[in-house]
Amino acid sequence: MTVLFLNGPNLNLLGTRQPEIYGRTTLSDIEAMVRQRAETLGVVIEFRQTNHEGELVTWLQQSRGKADAIVLNAAAYTHTSVALRDAITASEVPTIEIHLSNIHAREEFRHRSFIAPVCRGQIAGFGARSYLLGLEAAVSINEPL
Ligand code: DQA
Repeated sequence: MTVLFLNGPNLNLLGTRQPEIYGRTTLSDIEAMVRQRAETLGVVIEFRQTNHEGELVTWLQQSRGKADAIVLNAAAYTHTSVALRDAITASEVPTIEIHLSNIHAREEFRHRSFIAPVCRGQIAGFGARSYLLGLEAAVSINEPL
């Protein structure tokens, strides 16, 4: 099984960016944590970050027929991007939306996710552990509820 982890804008700054909200773990710490868990599960992962919306769209398009699941932290694009939503739909790859922070407990503009309706589910509010929960959800994505 191959799981694609995609990370959107400003997540390259994790560790120093608003640590009171996002914690002190860096994105490469998170990647290492996810890789370690994936290895024990026998799952192949790809882990990427970009600050560019179009690059996320391209990666989502390319995942079609290749990845078995996507774990997506679209960051601020979560709240703005119809293009990402359409790319998730077009990919036909089951996608799990994740966030470090609980977006529903923050500013009102973060309560709305453009991508939530086309994702299998949403994990938010568990800090770096949201990524491990995302991996767990991805691994069992084809099991009946
Ligand atoms: C985020 C939440 C978004 O609202 C914000 O724009 C981010 C990070 C999170 O992981 O908590 O950049 O996706």
